[in-house]
Amino acid sequence: MRSLTRNHARIEMELCIKFVRRLSAHCAKARHQPGLRRAEQRIFGSRSTAMKILRDGVLNPGVEPVSKGCMLLRLSLTLGLLAAPAVADEPSEADRRIVQTVQRLASFDYSKASQKTKEAIDRYLSTAAGSEEYFQLVEKFGITTQTDTLLSLAADHAGTTKAGQAMKLLFQTGAAAVVSEKMKTLPEEKAAAVAEAAASVGSQETTTFAAALLSANQTTAPVAEALVKGLARNTPGQQALLAAAKDGKLPEAVKASTAAALATSTDESVRKAASEVLRMKAAAKLPPVAELVKRAGDATKGLATFQAYCFTCHQVNGAGIDFGPALSEIGSKLAKEALYDSILNPNAGISFGFEGWQVKTKDGNQFIGMIASETDAEFSLKVPGGIIQKLTKTNITEREKLKVSLMTPNLHTVMAEEDLVNLIEYLVTLKKK
Ligand code: HEC
Repeated sequence: MRSLTRNHARIEMELCIKFVRRLSAHCAKARHQPGLRRAEQRIFGSRSTAMKILRDGVLNPGVEPVSKGCMLLRLSLTLGLLAAPAVADEPSEADRRIVQTVQRLASFDYSKASQKTKEAIDRYLSTAAGSEEYFQLVEKFGITTQTDTLLSLAADHAGTTKAGQAMKLLFQTGAAAVVSEKMKTLPEEKAAAVAEAAASVGSQETTTFAAALLSANQTTAPVAEALVKGLARNTPGQQALLAAAKDGKLPEAVKASTAAALATSTDESVRKAASEVLRMKAAAKLPPVAELVKRAGDATKGLATFQAYCFTCHQVNGAGIDFGPALSEIGSKLAKEALYDSILNPNAGISFGFEGWQVKTKDGNQFIGMIASETDAEFSLKVPGGIIQKLTKTNITEREKLKVSLMTPNLHTVMAEEDLVNLIEYLVTLKKK
C-alpha cells in the first residue's frame, strides 16, 4: 500500500518536473506576463488545469522534493502563476480540442454537427472574436450563429480590416437582410461604419447593397459619405459610383467627395469617365519637386493629412490598415524628393511583394489586390481595406498582373498644396528608432 502511494507520488513528481522544465523554458523565452500566460496556455490549455497540477504535484506535502533548487523554482513559479491576473476570456481545453479536431476534418459540416459540438465551437469563437482565427473559422465552416458578433465587429471598428472582414462574412452567410434591419437601429456614426465596411468588400452582392443604399432617400449624409469611401476602394464600387452619377442617382451632397475619390482610382478609364461625368475642375498645377522640397511644413498638421488619405492603406507603428508597406521608418528609407515622388508618381517604382493583380471569377466578381497566399486549390487576394478574398482556383476565369501600382495615384490633386508639404514633413519625421 505504502509503496503504491510512493509510486504514485513518484510519477506525479516526474510529471511535475517535466512541467516545470517546459514552463521555465517558456518563461525564459516569454519574459513578460502576457508571454508567461501564453506559455501556460500552450502547455495546459487552461489556467485551471495548470493550477490543479501545481496544487496536486507541487504543494502536496506527501511528495518528497527532488532537490532544493527544483522546489524553489516550483515555488516561485507557483507564486508567479498565482500573482498573474486571471484570464477571463480563455477557451476551455475541451473546447479548444474540439475545434482543433474539426479543423483537421476536411468533410466537417457545421450545420450537421451535434448540438454539443456546435456549442463548443460557439463558446470557443466567443473567446476569439475579431481574431484572424475567428474569421478563418467562421468562413471555413460557414457558421451562421455569429451575426450579432460580426455586426458589433463592423460597427465598433470603423475603417479597419476587422470591420471589412466581418461584413464580408455577414453577406457570405446570407445575413444581408439582418444588416439592413440593424442599420436602422444603430446610431448614425455606427451605421456609417457598417455602411463603409459593407461597401468596401467589393463583391457583387455588397456593391449592389451599398449602391442601393446610396441612392435611397432616407440615407443620411454621413452614411452616404461612408458608402462613397467604401465603394471607391474597389473596381465594382467605382463602377457603381460612376453609374449612379450617370443616372442622376448620386446625392448632391456626396458629388464632390465622389469626384475626388474617383480621381484617385488606379484605373485610368475610371478617372477619365469620372472627370467627364462629374465635371471636376482641373487640379491646380504643382510647382516642381525641386521647389517643393525647399519649403518647410508642419509635421503635426501633416499627421492629420496622413490620417485622412493614407491610413486606409498604410500602417505607422501599428495604427492604420495593413495593405501597402508599413511606413513607420520611411523617413530613414527615402529622402524628401523620393517621398514626393512616391505620392506624385506611384507607378514609377513598385515595392517588391506589393505588385497588383486583377482576378475575375465565374460568379461575376472582380477583385484587385495583392497575392496574400496561394495553394494548389486556392488563391487569396488581399484587397484594399486589408480584407482577404479567398478564391477557389476552379472559380477563377481570369488572372492578370497589373502594370500599375496598387497605390492610389493623383492623391496630390485632391489635397491642398500646403497639405502636401505638411504631409511630407510628417513622413520625414518617421525615422528608424
Ligand atoms: C489604395 C491604397 C493606398 C493608399 C490610399 C496610399 N498608398 Fe502608398 N502604397 C500603397 C501600396 C500598395 C504601395 C506599394 C506598391 C508601390 O510601391 O507602389 C505603396 C507604397 C508607398 C510608398 C513607398 C514605400 C516604400 O517602402 O518604398 C510610400 C512612401 C507611400 N506609399 C506613401 C503613401 C502616402 C503618403 C499616402 C497618402 C497620401 C499613401 N501612400 C496612400 C498603397 C496605398
